Amino acid sequence: MQRVSHHLLLCATANKAKCCDSALGSQTWNELKSVVRELDLENTQRPEGIVLRSKVDCLRICERGPILVVWPDGIWYAEVSPSRIKKIIQNHIVDQQPVEEWILKRTPLGPTDTPPAEQIAI
Ligand code: FES
Repeated sequence: MQRVSHHLLLCATANKAKCCDSALGSQTWNELKSVVRELDLENTQRPEGIVLRSKVDCLRICERGPILVVWPDGIWYAEVSPSRIKKIIQNHIVDQQPVEEWILKRTPLGPTDTPPAEQIAI
């Protein structure tokens, strides 16, 4: 079993996303993958747990994309771009300081809904 610290869900499926240009979505997704690897966030020895990433078809915002939601924090970013993704991941995931100026909304999970990180395993 591996601990999971965060799951990054990016709406950026090429030719399907309504919230952004498909080329921008693809570029953002590729940069997200690159930054996650560069920061070694998929390392199973990472004390906080690994960071999962998924490209999804729609997060039901459908404007101002690409849209990124960070689980389990319930923080949604709008207008994510290749140039913004590194700051989001570095500040939010590594430094635990979400990038307030790019947050679209928050839908935090209640304490009874979210087990402590050490109990989340895949
Ligand atoms: S198409 Fe991206 S949120 Fe719906």
